[in-house]
Amino acid sequence: MSRPLSVGLIGLGTVGSQVAERMLSWGPQLSRRAGVELCLKKVLVRDVNKRRPLNVAHELLTDEPAELLDDPSIEVVIEVAGGDEPMRSYIQLAIEAGKHVITANKVVMARHGPELLDLAAERNVDVYFEAAVGGGIPLISTFRVDLQANRIERVSAVINGTTNYVLGRMASAGLTMPDAVREAQEAGYAEADPTDDVAGFDATYKLAILASIAYEIKVRPDDIYREGIDGVEPVDFRYARELGYAIKLVAHTQRHTGRVEARVHPAMVPVDHPLARVEGPENAVFVEGDLVGQVLLVGQGAGGRPTASAVVGDLIDLARSIRRGVQSRPSFSFDDRIGVVPIGEVKTRAYFRLRVEDRAGVVAAIGQVFAEEGVSISSFIQKDAWSHDQTAELVVTTHPALDASLQRAREKMSALEPVRAVSSFLRVF
Ligand SMILES: NC(=O)c1ccc[n+]([C@@H]2O[C@H](COP(=O)([O-])OP(=O)(O)OC[C@H]3O[C@@H](n4cnc5c(N)ncnc54)[C@H](OP(=O)(O)O)[C@@H]3O)[C@@H](O)[C@H]2O)c1
Repeated sequence: MSRPLSVGLIGLGTVGSQVAERMLSWGPQLSRRAGVELCLKKVLVRDVNKRRPLNVAHELLTDEPAELLDDPSIEVVIEVAGGDEPMRSYIQLAIEAGKHVITANKVVMARHGPELLDLAAERNVDVYFEAAVGGGIPLISTFRVDLQANRIERVSAVINGTTNYVLGRMASAGLTMPDAVREAQEAGYAEADPTDDVAGFDATYKLAILASIAYEIKVRPDDIYREGIDGVEPVDFRYARELGYAIKLVAHTQRHTGRVEARVHPAMVPVDHPLARVEGPENAVFVEGDLVGQVLLVGQGAGGRPTASAVVGDLIDLARSIRRGVQSRPSFSFDDRIGVVPIGEVKTRAYFRLRVEDRAGVVAAIGQVFAEEGVSISSFIQKDAWSHDQTAELVVTTHPALDASLQRAREKMSALEPVRAVSSFLRVF
């Protein structure tokens, strides 16, 4: 074997400690697969004196970025620390210094991925980011290698384990959202501050990366329509069941002529759709290519060990190509001219739940609103009136219509005198 390949690791937390553990305890196996000895040379952390569950030699640790980034013997930097800055700068500096980079950082890759990949191509180094989307599920390599012969038509995903766990518990145990979030936190499936997940930011970062590599265009998180799960109420799951749906936070992108659709929001998914069956913290990505047809990828979208599986897998693949002196994977070129369709122009079916006064003419007034907006009704459910306040609950589902028309219908219905509230609006997948 040739001289060892020196690796610098940034981050020794949930993911980093599993990466280091695998490298330190499984060295000979990894080296045999990589065709070169892999040597963990330095680990950058915030606090070198912190007590850690993993026993890493103290001399490996540093809190000085230059000890990694300016060390010419380090050929590969693995970034598993997270957040935008300073990690974007560290990755850029590593590339500029001629180092290959492996990262699990969805924020950096969603916001700056195309520029970093362009820079890497210029400097003739590679950036691997399998772990940035879907944890241990092989997604990026699937797009980058196995689906290269395809024109990707659409990608639909349940890509945030926290919200999937929360929605699952609301559906199965009738929990309210705050109770389900609390339970997810206790079970280790939600952060102390769950905003990134519950409000859909995390799924949006992941969809930006998936859409960018699926279509080879620059899709930014800000281009993506985003809605979190906080408007979903326990009663919606009862109606969903009655109508034959599950409720999921769906990340969806689809090719249109000259543009793409990209959106993240809670949606009613038919119970026989594979995404409806994704349970708990699991993730699933449903891809449609013109040659391959439909492909479903399912697995653990988070957690130290599954994510380390993706990071170390990238390292082995990268090490092989470095030692062969070739780039084993095709690089990306991103087309700037293709934009994202505004949500108002997207066609979708919808579910409305309304609280109305139980009197004559209400249904006709609601029907009139939908007619004015050119929205055709697919089903209509009215539950018995509540005697205490003489109101009734109406549930309406529609055929496909422009999202803008559905939103106008929602506003017009809210303004109708006998309508107390449009309590819920969900798109139907
Ligand atoms: N956890 C998962 O399930 C998962 C799944 C997929 C992707 N990811 C991604 O993987 C990355 C790491 O996640 P994680 O859960 O392992 O995070 P974590 O447990 O919070 O660990 C972060 C590590 O990075 C170090 N760090 C943070 N800021 C630093 C800085 N400015 N300079 C030097 N070191 C710094 C910390 O050092 P100290 O230890 O000294 O504080 C810590 O070791 C993130 O990008 C995340 O999105 C995580």
